[in-house]
Amino acid sequence: GLVNTREMFAKAMKGHYAIPAYNFNNMEQLQAIIQACVETESPVILQVSKGAREYANQTLLRYLAQGAVEYAKEISGGKGIPICLHLDHGPDFETCKSCIDMGFSSVMIDGSHLPYEENVAETRKVVEYAHKFDVTVEGELGVLAGVEDDVKAEHHTYTQPEEVEDFVKRTGVDSLAIAIGTSHGAYKFKPGDDPKIRLDILAEIEKRIPGFPIVLHGSSSVPQDLVKIINENGGKLKDAIGIGEDQLRAASKSAVCKINIDSDGRLAMTAAIRKVFNEKPAEFDPRKYLGPARTALKELYKRKNVEVLGSAGHA
Ligand code: G3H
Ligand code: 13P
Ligand code: ZN
Repeated sequence: GLVNTREMFAKAMKGHYAIPAYNFNNMEQLQAIIQACVETESPVILQVSKGAREYANQTLLRYLAQGAVEYAKEISGGKGIPICLHLDHGPDFETCKSCIDMGFSSVMIDGSHLPYEENVAETRKVVEYAHKFDVTVEGELGVLAGVEDDVKAEHHTYTQPEEVEDFVKRTGVDSLAIAIGTSHGAYKFKPGDDPKIRLDILAEIEKRIPGFPIVLHGSSSVPQDLVKIINENGGKLKDAIGIGEDQLRAASKSAVCKINIDSDGRLAMTAAIRKVFNEKPAEFDPRKYLGPARTALKELYKRKNVEVLGSAGHA
Protein backbone atom coordinates (compact mmCIF):
# COMPACT_ATOMS: atom_id res chain seq x y z
CA GLY A 1 0.00 0.00 0.00
CA LEU A 2 0.86 3.67 0.32
CA VAL A 3 3.74 4.37 2.71
CA ASN A 4 4.57 7.35 4.90
CA THR A 5 7.82 9.32 4.57
CA ARG A 6 9.70 7.96 7.58
CA GLU A 7 11.76 5.24 5.96
CA MET A 8 12.09 7.17 2.70
CA PHE A 9 13.68 10.10 4.54
CA ALA A 10 15.91 7.95 6.73
CA LYS A 11 17.37 6.31 3.61
CA ALA A 12 17.63 9.60 1.72
CA MET A 13 19.49 11.16 4.65
CA LYS A 14 21.96 8.30 4.80
CA GLY A 15 22.35 8.05 1.03
CA HIS A 16 22.69 11.81 0.44
CA TYR A 17 19.89 12.15 -2.09
CA ALA A 18 16.38 13.66 -2.04
CA ILE A 19 12.97 12.09 -2.63
CA PRO A 20 11.04 13.67 -5.52
CA ALA A 21 7.72 15.23 -4.50
CA TYR A 22 5.72 15.73 -7.67
CA ASN A 23 2.23 17.28 -7.74
CA PHE A 24 -0.57 15.62 -9.66
CA ASN A 25 -4.08 16.68 -10.62
CA ASN A 26 -5.08 14.10 -13.20
CA MET A 27 -4.43 10.63 -14.61
CA GLU A 28 -1.86 11.63 -17.21
CA GLN A 29 0.35 13.41 -14.65
CA LEU A 30 0.08 10.44 -12.33
CA GLN A 31 0.98 7.95 -15.07
CA ALA A 32 3.99 10.05 -16.08
CA ILE A 33 5.23 10.30 -12.48
CA ILE A 34 4.82 6.57 -11.83
CA GLN A 35 6.40 5.56 -15.15
CA ALA A 36 9.35 7.89 -14.54
CA CYS A 37 9.90 6.59 -11.01
CA VAL A 38 9.50 2.93 -11.96
CA GLU A 39 11.91 3.30 -14.87
CA THR A 40 14.50 5.02 -12.67
CA GLU A 41 13.73 2.81 -9.65
CA SER A 42 13.03 5.81 -7.44
CA PRO A 43 10.73 6.18 -4.43
CA VAL A 44 8.19 8.97 -4.90
CA ILE A 45 5.92 11.34 -3.01
CA LEU A 46 2.69 12.13 -4.84
CA GLN A 47 1.46 15.55 -3.77
CA VAL A 48 -2.09 16.85 -3.75
CA SER A 49 -2.50 20.60 -3.31
CA LYS A 50 -5.55 22.59 -2.29
CA GLY A 51 -5.94 23.54 -5.95
CA ALA A 52 -5.76 19.87 -6.93
CA ARG A 53 -8.47 18.94 -4.40
CA GLU A 54 -10.70 21.66 -5.83
CA TYR A 55 -9.94 20.73 -9.43
CA ALA A 56 -10.08 16.95 -9.28
CA ASN A 57 -11.80 15.97 -6.01
CA GLN A 58 -9.91 14.63 -3.00
CA THR A 59 -11.61 11.21 -3.04
CA LEU A 60 -10.83 10.62 -6.68
CA LEU A 61 -7.17 11.65 -6.23
CA ARG A 62 -6.82 9.42 -3.18
CA TYR A 63 -8.04 6.36 -5.10
CA LEU A 64 -5.99 7.27 -8.17
CA ALA A 65 -2.94 7.16 -5.89
CA GLN A 66 -4.06 3.82 -4.49
CA GLY A 67 -4.39 2.59 -8.06
CA ALA A 68 -0.90 3.87 -8.74
CA VAL A 69 0.51 1.40 -6.21
CA GLU A 70 -0.94 -1.47 -8.25
CA TYR A 71 -0.01 0.20 -11.53
CA ALA A 72 3.63 0.54 -10.39
CA LYS A 73 3.74 -3.16 -9.56
CA GLU A 74 2.23 -4.06 -12.89
CA ILE A 75 4.71 -2.08 -14.98
CA SER A 76 7.74 -3.10 -12.89
CA GLY A 77 7.18 -6.84 -13.12
CA GLY A 78 5.73 -7.14 -9.61
CA LYS A 79 8.31 -5.27 -7.53
CA GLY A 80 6.68 -1.85 -7.33
CA ILE A 81 8.24 1.26 -5.75
CA PRO A 82 7.62 3.06 -2.43
CA ILE A 83 4.77 5.53 -3.01
CA CYS A 84 3.63 8.13 -0.50
CA LEU A 85 0.41 10.15 -0.88
CA HIS A 86 0.95 13.57 0.66
CA LEU A 87 -1.25 16.60 1.25
CA ASP A 88 0.68 19.64 -0.04
CA HIS A 89 0.25 22.92 1.90
CA GLY A 90 -2.49 21.76 4.24
CA PRO A 91 -4.09 25.05 5.33
CA ASP A 92 -5.59 23.90 8.66
CA PHE A 93 -6.20 20.99 11.03
CA GLU A 94 -9.57 20.11 9.46
CA THR A 95 -8.13 19.66 5.97
CA CYS A 96 -5.28 17.54 7.32
CA LYS A 97 -7.73 15.43 9.32
CA SER A 98 -9.93 14.90 6.30
CA CYS A 99 -6.95 13.63 4.27
CA ILE A 100 -5.69 11.43 7.11
CA ASP A 101 -9.17 9.94 7.59
CA MET A 102 -9.33 9.23 3.87
CA GLY A 103 -6.04 7.33 3.72
CA PHE A 104 -3.32 9.84 2.82
CA SER A 105 -0.03 8.56 4.25
CA SER A 106 1.51 12.00 4.86
CA VAL A 107 0.31 15.59 5.30
CA MET A 108 1.78 19.05 5.41
CA ILE A 109 0.38 21.58 7.84
CA ASP A 110 1.49 24.93 6.49
CA GLY A 111 1.36 27.30 9.42
CA SER A 112 4.19 29.39 8.04
CA HIS A 113 2.00 32.49 7.73
CA LEU A 114 0.89 32.31 11.35
CA PRO A 115 2.66 33.94 14.29
CA TYR A 116 5.26 31.51 15.68
CA GLU A 117 3.30 30.29 18.73
CA GLU A 118 0.16 29.71 16.65
CA ASN A 119 2.19 27.78 14.06
CA VAL A 120 3.57 25.59 16.86
CA ALA A 121 0.11 24.96 18.33
CA GLU A 122 -1.61 24.14 15.01
CA THR A 123 1.26 21.92 13.87
CA ARG A 124 1.35 20.10 17.23
CA LYS A 125 -2.38 19.42 16.93
CA VAL A 126 -1.99 17.86 13.47
CA VAL A 127 1.00 15.77 14.59
CA GLU A 128 -0.93 14.38 17.58
CA TYR A 129 -3.78 13.28 15.35
CA ALA A 130 -1.66 12.06 12.41
CA HIS A 131 0.70 9.93 14.44
CA LYS A 132 -2.20 7.88 15.81
CA PHE A 133 -2.60 6.59 12.25
CA ASP A 134 1.12 6.40 11.44
CA VAL A 135 0.76 9.36 9.07
CA THR A 136 3.85 11.57 8.89
CA VAL A 137 3.69 15.37 9.10
CA GLU A 138 5.64 18.16 7.41
CA GLY A 139 5.65 21.60 9.04
CA GLU A 140 7.00 24.89 7.73
CA LEU A 141 8.98 27.77 9.17
CA GLY A 142 9.72 30.88 7.14
CA VAL A 143 7.68 32.30 4.27
CA LEU A 144 8.45 31.83 0.60
CA ALA A 145 8.10 34.89 -1.61
CA GLY A 146 5.39 34.77 -4.24
CA VAL A 147 1.97 33.19 -4.09
CA GLU A 148 1.55 30.22 -1.76
CA ASP A 149 -2.05 29.12 -2.20
CA ASP A 150 -4.06 32.25 -1.47
CA VAL A 151 -1.40 34.08 0.49
CA LYS A 152 0.90 36.42 -1.40
CA ALA A 153 4.27 37.51 0.04
CA GLU A 154 6.38 40.26 -1.57
CA HIS A 155 9.68 39.12 -0.06
CA HIS A 156 11.28 35.99 1.29
CA THR A 157 11.14 35.66 5.03
CA TYR A 158 14.04 33.30 5.49
CA THR A 159 13.75 30.59 8.10
CA GLN A 160 15.53 31.69 11.27
CA PRO A 161 17.97 28.95 12.27
CA GLU A 162 17.49 29.96 15.94
CA GLU A 163 13.86 28.78 15.78
CA VAL A 164 14.13 25.36 14.16
CA GLU A 165 15.22 23.30 17.15
CA ASP A 166 12.43 24.60 19.37
CA PHE A 167 9.85 24.15 16.59
CA VAL A 168 10.82 20.59 15.78
CA LYS A 169 10.94 19.60 19.45
CA ARG A 170 7.66 21.16 20.47
CA THR A 171 5.63 20.08 17.44
CA GLY A 172 7.00 16.57 16.90
CA VAL A 173 6.97 17.02 13.11
CA ASP A 174 8.69 14.44 10.92
CA SER A 175 10.14 16.95 8.47
CA LEU A 176 10.52 20.70 8.14
CA ALA A 177 10.01 22.89 5.08
CA ILE A 178 12.25 25.95 5.10
CA ALA A 179 12.49 29.24 3.21
CA ILE A 180 15.96 29.87 1.78
CA GLY A 181 15.11 31.76 -1.40
CA THR A 182 13.10 29.28 -3.43
CA SER A 183 9.56 30.28 -4.40
CA HIS A 184 6.55 28.85 -6.18
CA GLY A 185 5.83 29.25 -9.88
CA ALA A 186 7.85 30.09 -12.99
CA TYR A 187 9.08 33.56 -11.99
CA LYS A 188 11.42 32.99 -9.09
CA PHE A 189 13.93 35.70 -9.94
CA LYS A 190 13.86 38.89 -11.96
CA PRO A 191 16.32 39.43 -14.83
CA GLY A 192 19.45 40.92 -13.32
CA ASP A 193 18.93 39.18 -9.95
CA ASP A 194 21.63 36.86 -8.68
CA PRO A 195 19.59 33.64 -8.94
CA LYS A 196 21.02 32.05 -5.82
CA ILE A 197 19.38 30.28 -2.91
CA ARG A 198 20.82 30.63 0.61
CA LEU A 199 22.68 27.37 1.04
CA ASP A 200 24.48 29.06 3.95
CA ILE A 201 21.21 29.31 5.88
CA LEU A 202 20.53 25.65 5.08
CA ALA A 203 23.94 24.73 6.53
CA GLU A 204 23.16 26.80 9.64
CA ILE A 205 19.81 25.00 10.05
CA GLU A 206 21.48 21.61 9.64
CA LYS A 207 23.85 22.46 12.47
CA ARG A 208 20.92 23.14 14.81
CA ILE A 209 19.00 19.94 13.96
CA PRO A 210 21.55 17.44 12.65
CA GLY A 211 20.05 14.52 10.74
CA PHE A 212 16.55 16.03 10.65
CA PRO A 213 14.78 15.83 7.25
CA ILE A 214 14.49 19.19 5.49
CA VAL A 215 12.06 19.97 2.66
CA LEU A 216 12.50 22.44 -0.18
CA HIS A 217 9.39 23.86 -1.79
CA GLY A 218 9.43 25.94 -4.96
CA SER A 219 12.24 23.94 -6.50
CA SER A 220 11.43 24.09 -10.19
CA SER A 221 14.31 25.07 -12.45
CA VAL A 222 12.20 26.49 -15.30
CA PRO A 223 14.18 24.82 -18.12
CA GLN A 224 14.78 27.44 -20.78
CA ASP A 225 14.40 24.95 -23.64
CA LEU A 226 10.80 24.37 -22.50
CA VAL A 227 10.11 28.10 -22.20
CA LYS A 228 11.47 28.49 -25.73
CA ILE A 229 9.21 25.77 -27.17
CA ILE A 230 6.20 27.35 -25.46
CA ASN A 231 7.01 30.81 -26.79
CA GLU A 232 7.79 29.53 -30.29
CA ASN A 233 4.39 27.91 -30.40
CA GLY A 234 2.21 30.83 -29.43
CA GLY A 235 2.98 31.07 -25.72
CA LYS A 236 3.90 34.25 -23.87
CA LEU A 237 6.18 33.49 -20.94
CA LYS A 238 8.41 36.48 -20.36
CA ASP A 239 11.48 36.32 -18.12
CA ALA A 240 10.60 33.00 -16.51
CA ILE A 241 13.54 32.02 -14.27
CA GLY A 242 13.97 29.10 -11.86
CA ILE A 243 16.46 27.57 -9.40
CA GLY A 244 19.69 26.35 -11.00
CA GLU A 245 19.88 22.55 -11.00
CA ASP A 246 23.42 22.68 -9.63
CA GLN A 247 22.10 24.34 -6.45
CA LEU A 248 19.41 21.68 -6.08
CA ARG A 249 21.97 18.96 -6.64
CA ALA A 250 24.04 20.41 -3.80
CA ALA A 251 20.95 20.63 -1.56
CA SER A 252 20.01 17.00 -2.32
CA LYS A 253 23.32 15.86 -0.87
CA SER A 254 22.62 17.69 2.40
CA ALA A 255 19.81 17.12 4.93
CA VAL A 256 17.29 18.09 2.25
CA CYS A 257 15.29 14.86 1.85
CA LYS A 258 12.29 16.10 -0.17
CA ILE A 259 12.29 18.43 -3.16
CA ASN A 260 8.96 19.77 -4.46
CA ILE A 261 8.56 20.19 -8.20
CA ASP A 262 5.37 21.16 -9.99
CA SER A 263 5.94 24.12 -12.31
CA ASP A 264 8.57 22.36 -14.43
CA GLY A 265 6.07 19.60 -15.12
CA ARG A 266 3.47 22.16 -16.12
CA LEU A 267 5.95 23.70 -18.56
CA ALA A 268 6.83 20.31 -20.07
CA MET A 269 3.18 19.43 -20.65
CA THR A 270 2.30 22.86 -22.03
CA ALA A 271 5.27 22.83 -24.40
CA ALA A 272 4.26 19.43 -25.79
CA ILE A 273 0.59 20.38 -26.16
CA ARG A 274 1.33 23.72 -27.82
CA LYS A 275 3.60 21.92 -30.29
CA VAL A 276 0.86 19.46 -31.29
CA PHE A 277 -1.72 22.24 -31.63
CA ASN A 278 0.67 24.27 -33.74
CA GLU A 279 2.00 21.49 -35.95
CA LYS A 280 -1.13 19.35 -36.28
CA PRO A 281 -4.10 21.71 -36.20
CA ALA A 282 -6.41 18.99 -37.51
CA GLU A 283 -6.02 16.84 -34.37
CA PHE A 284 -8.94 16.88 -31.99
CA ASP A 285 -8.54 13.64 -30.03
CA PRO A 286 -7.34 14.59 -26.52
CA ARG A 287 -5.15 11.48 -26.45
CA LYS A 288 -3.17 12.94 -29.35
CA TYR A 289 -2.01 15.89 -27.23
CA LEU A 290 -2.28 14.54 -23.70
CA GLY A 291 -0.23 11.51 -24.80
CA PRO A 292 2.78 13.58 -25.93
CA ALA A 293 2.37 15.78 -22.84
CA ARG A 294 2.54 12.67 -20.65
CA THR A 295 5.66 11.43 -22.44
CA ALA A 296 7.36 14.82 -22.07
CA LEU A 297 6.53 14.88 -18.36
CA LYS A 298 7.88 11.38 -17.85
CA GLU A 299 11.16 12.19 -19.60
CA LEU A 300 11.60 15.36 -17.54
CA TYR A 301 11.01 13.56 -14.24
CA LYS A 302 13.31 10.68 -15.18
CA ARG A 303 16.06 13.21 -15.78
CA LYS A 304 15.33 14.95 -12.46
CA ASN A 305 15.55 11.67 -10.55
CA VAL A 306 18.84 10.73 -12.19
CA GLU A 307 20.63 14.06 -12.55
CA VAL A 308 19.26 16.38 -9.88
CA LEU A 309 17.76 14.49 -6.92
CA GLY A 310 19.91 11.39 -7.06
CA SER A 311 16.93 9.25 -6.05
CA ALA A 312 17.30 6.88 -9.02
CA GLY A 313 18.18 3.33 -8.00
CA HIS A 314 16.95 3.81 -4.41
CA ALA A 315 13.45 2.28 -4.68
O1 G3H B 1 2.32 24.81 -3.91
C1 G3H B 1 2.19 24.97 -5.11
C2 G3H B 1 2.00 23.82 -6.03
O2 G3H B 1 2.67 24.07 -7.24
C3 G3H B 1 0.53 23.55 -6.25
O3 G3H B 1 -0.07 24.58 -6.97
O4 G3H B 1 -2.19 25.12 -5.76
O5 G3H B 1 -1.91 25.64 -8.21
O6 G3H B 1 -2.17 23.27 -7.43
P1 G3H B 1 -1.68 24.67 -7.09
P1 13P C 1 7.42 24.90 -8.01
O1 13P C 1 6.38 25.92 -8.35
O2 13P C 1 8.79 25.52 -7.99
O3 13P C 1 7.39 23.72 -8.92
O4 13P C 1 7.16 24.40 -6.51
C1 13P C 1 6.20 23.40 -6.22
C2 13P C 1 5.91 23.27 -4.76
O5 13P C 1 6.61 23.75 -3.90
C3 13P C 1 4.73 22.49 -4.39
O6 13P C 1 4.51 22.50 -3.01
ZN1 ZN D 1 5.06 24.31 -2.05
